[in-house]
Amino acid sequence: MARRSPVRREPRRVLPPPAAPRTANLVNLDAEDAALSELQKGLLRTPREIPCKYFYDDRGSALFEEITRLPEYYPTRTERALLIERAAAIVEAAGGAALTDVVELGSGAAEKTVCLLDAAFAAGGRPRYVAVDISAHALQRTRDILAAARPEVRVEEVLADYTQGLALPPRLPGGRRLVLFLGGTIGNDEDPEAVQLLSRVREHLDERDVLLLGANLVTDPDLIHAAYNDAQGVTALFNKNALTAVNAFARSAFDPAKFDHHAPYRVEKRRIEMWLVAREAMEVDLGRLGQTLPLKKGEGIRTEISRRFLRDEVLRLIDASGFTPERWMESPDGRFGLALGLSRSSLHGL
Ligand code: SAH
Ligand code: AVI
Repeated sequence: MARRSPVRREPRRVLPPPAAPRTANLVNLDAEDAALSELQKGLLRTPREIPCKYFYDDRGSALFEEITRLPEYYPTRTERALLIERAAAIVEAAGGAALTDVVELGSGAAEKTVCLLDAAFAAGGRPRYVAVDISAHALQRTRDILAAARPEVRVEEVLADYTQGLALPPRLPGGRRLVLFLGGTIGNDEDPEAVQLLSRVREHLDERDVLLLGANLVTDPDLIHAAYNDAQGVTALFNKNALTAVNAFARSAFDPAKFDHHAPYRVEKRRIEMWLVAREAMEVDLGRLGQTLPLKKGEGIRTEISRRFLRDEVLRLIDASGFTPERWMESPDGRFGLALGLSRSSLHGL
């Protein structure tokens, strides 16, 4: 971050203070300055915004896992069924026994990934699994789940914010790489950021390597709305928890109890928007950002967009990022799609 930034500077820490909850991988060398600056810009712009990565502190990651088991949250089980059905074909397209590297961005608990690793082993390969996530809690879950379910798989963890660069371990010589970006997480970005992220992924790939991208598809608006407005209120807790994570990181003083969860599906934009709406007028001390944030009663802070794509939009997205669309797989109910893209060229051949 530029030295003239208005952000109040503190002595640089590599580790958070012992009492602080783990707030993903934001307290880390220069990334800390960049994250403070990004947060400040988001809160001051119109509409006000908190980057959705703030959902994923320890509690948020656990709440997300709970969301994936809710009756209303259809994406996870839909994608899982599709992956199980197509795992062998996906692995074959990715090199079969020659597949040496399975890399997953935003791996979460990696529960759905097990079927792909199984298919790779069944095809005679022994790929290592590289999990990239901003959440230490999620990586711990990945490690625990794989150690229990598939102890034969070598797991490497990369605790990183993939929007700030992508540092992957060097590829294994002679092998093929498969990059997974599942869950519909690509829909949490607008197009330019999505293309930027996928293009960065492509820089780590050789020509025959493969990207598998999971995307939520346009479907019944009421069904989509229910998935983000569940009866038990878990998504509301997940949304409000972003304020707790921001407080832990910026030492700000948001009171989550003073906000309402609001998650409309915008049919014309084909996306859910998650908002936190102020119940009353307030001034929030922004801690390390060195200023206060005035909020009017009813004013919202946007915490997430979650897009619903048309098939051709997904294919265009991967094409624009340097992948040749190779295969399209869709759940029978048309709610979720998986696109396989072949890396068109290698920039670095890492
Ligand atoms: N792929 C899993 C998890 C999806 S939730 C699934 O399909 O269920 C999104 C995951 O991405 C979370 O584990 C979160 O911690 C991670 N994540 C979100 N933003 C990130 C970022 N900027 N960099 C790295 N990981 C991120
Ligand atoms: C991670 N991501 C794809 C989820 C989604 O559905 O957009 C995050 C989420 N937000 C609310 N519920 C789940």
